[in-house]
Amino acid sequence: MQTTVRQLKTGLTGTIEIPSDKSISHRAIMLSSLAFGKSTIKNFSKGQDPISTLNLFKAMGVDTRFTDENTLMINSTGKLISSKNELSCGNSGTTMRLVSGILAGQNFDSILTGDESLSKRPMKRIIEPLSLMGTKIESLEYHAPLKIYGQQLVGIDYVSPLASAQVKSSILLAGLFAKGKTSFTEPYKSRNHTELMLEYMGANITCNNTKTTIQQSQLEAKTIEIAGDISSAAYFIVAALIVPNSDIILKNVGLNPTRTGILDVCKQMGANIEILDKKTVSGEAVGDLRIKYSKLKACTIKGDIIPRLIDELPIIAILATQADGETIVKDAQDLRNKESDRIKSVVTELSKLGAIIKETSDGFIINGKTDLIGDCEVETFKDHRLIMSLFVAGLICQKPISIKDFEWINISFPEFEKLFNNLYS
Ligand code: S3P
Repeated sequence: MQTTVRQLKTGLTGTIEIPSDKSISHRAIMLSSLAFGKSTIKNFSKGQDPISTLNLFKAMGVDTRFTDENTLMINSTGKLISSKNELSCGNSGTTMRLVSGILAGQNFDSILTGDESLSKRPMKRIIEPLSLMGTKIESLEYHAPLKIYGQQLVGIDYVSPLASAQVKSSILLAGLFAKGKTSFTEPYKSRNHTELMLEYMGANITCNNTKTTIQQSQLEAKTIEIAGDISSAAYFIVAALIVPNSDIILKNVGLNPTRTGILDVCKQMGANIEILDKKTVSGEAVGDLRIKYSKLKACTIKGDIIPRLIDELPIIAILATQADGETIVKDAQDLRNKESDRIKSVVTELSKLGAIIKETSDGFIINGKTDLIGDCEVETFKDHRLIMSLFVAGLICQKPISIKDFEWINISFPEFEKLFNNLYS
């Protein structure tokens, strides 16, 4: 589906509620399925990726049912049963990598498959440590499909070369089934939703900055209320900052410090963002944000902040086109392994719009402030985050832009366009 976006002549105004966090939704299904009893998941994400995770656990015998549009009940014996069929993870890297850790510790074998994009994404990062724990995983040169031979696992003390929450979570989930202690140390702290939820559900887990240790545990069924997704909020944050005369409020935004790198960058660029009404819900920080159109200056984004904003780098690139000076993004080479090669795709598509942007091996450099021209069709590589970023760019392009494969936003954010409509005055 092709969508045309036109320049907004008035600012964005009003208040919207940010829908459920995708990362937390995945984990809520997985951990509730491993817990004995009835769990209630409130504000569950309707994105296709979490639905892929839900379908997998249904196929492994877990009883799941929606009691209203966003409330999911999970009734589990705490034990998974082997599915006769291959398990499809769709487009979702989080599903494939985290579920691999769980399946490695089962007393049955499984096959995980993915769509075209997921089948190109690297799996060596989980296959190596899970193999050290005693499982065997067959793959196509470290790519999906993965055949996982469930085993009695043994704990490891793993020092990861990557700051990746997916790898960390995969190993910690395997650690739930392993004999002895399993420790995971990462170079920088990545998102810690798995650790927080494991703790909330009674697992034997300790976290010491970048080192996390877990032991075999039986999880307790709980009510889990999921915060709004800061990665979804990011498109509205940037849109309000760059569309003149904007002033919006975003309600129920997850503010876990391992995810708020975008707010730190915005602040450094001089953005006018206020945090209102901060609280803790199911172990996670949540609050409302007020964002006003702002004059912005460039900054450098590198090092330990990268895992705290990894999914926001495409939309930060749009922000940087409207900041005075040179914005440098480095240490972000893993962007090349996302739903598209996000370094290349951001650079080629923003260049078409008239941005001054240069590709580097581990990021990009943008010179601003530039008037974006538009008047073109952009490629999206079926990458949901690139599509939503280009949509926001279209709101300030002088001439309309046409975006291909727009329906791929459904991977994480089916409500995206409707919520934008609510802010047009
Ligand atoms: C995610 C972790 C990040 C992120 C992805 C979701 C998660 O991936 O990019 O969208 O839910 O754990 P990496 O762990 O590969 O950096």
